[in-house]
Amino acid sequence: FFLLPAVFVKSATNLSTIPENTSIPEVAFIGRSNIGKSSLINGLVNRNALVKTSSKPGHTQMMNFFKIGDRLSLVDMPGYGWKSRDEWGGMILDYLQHRKNLRRIYILIDPSHGIKDSDSQIMKLLDESGLSYQVVLTKTDKLSKTKYSIAKSEVEAQLVKDAICCYPLVLGVSSRTKDGLDELRAAIIKAGQL
Ligand code: GTP
Ligand code: MG
Repeated sequence: FFLLPAVFVKSATNLSTIPENTSIPEVAFIGRSNIGKSSLINGLVNRNALVKTSSKPGHTQMMNFFKIGDRLSLVDMPGYGWKSRDEWGGMILDYLQHRKNLRRIYILIDPSHGIKDSDSQIMKLLDESGLSYQVVLTKTDKLSKTKYSIAKSEVEAQLVKDAICCYPLVLGVSSRTKDGLDELRAAIIKAGQL
C-alpha cells in the first residue's frame, strides 16, 4: 500500500485553506520541533525528500498535506515548543477538532528526552477533545536496545497514569535505519481501515 505514489497536495495555515477532499482517511503527525515528523513521513513513503526536513527546529511552519494514491492523506504539522503554544494551538487544534476524516493523531516523542511538559499539555488538550492519538517514539537508532527499552517503559508508565484517549500500544521508529516503519505502516492501515 505504501508503495503507491505519494504526492504533495498543499500547505495550509487554517481551516479554510485545508484540502476539502474529506472522503479519504487522514492521519496527522504532531510533536515537538525537531522530533522527526517530516523525516518520518519521508520514511513511511520511502522517499528521501518528499517532505523538507532540517536540523534547525521550527522548520515546518504550515500544515502540509500529502496523499498516497487516492487512498490515504498524511499531514505534517509544525512542531510545538517553538511557536508559542497559543499560536500552535489556534491553528492546529482547530484542524484536529474539526477534521471529519481524521482517523488518528500520531504524537511523536524522543525516547532520549521522554514526555515533556509541552507534550503533556497537548495530550491533555486531545483528551479534553476526545481525540484518539497514539505515541510513536522517534530516532530509536540513537539509543542502545537496553536504554531504549527502559525509556519506552517509562513513557508507557506515564501514559497509563495521565493519558485518557491514548491508544495503548507505543511504537518505536527510526527514519534513519527504517526500524519500526513497517509496524507503523500496519498501525496506520488499521487506523484508517484501509
Ligand atoms: P520541525 O519541522 O522543526 O517541527 O521538525 P520535524 O519534527 O519535522 O523534524 P525533521 O524531520 O525535520 O528532523 C529534525 C532532525 O532530526 C533532522 O536533522 C533529521 O535528520 C533528524 N532525524 C529525523 N529522524 C531521525 C532518526 O530517525 N534518527 C536520527 N538519528 N535522526 C533523525
Ligand atoms: Mg518538520
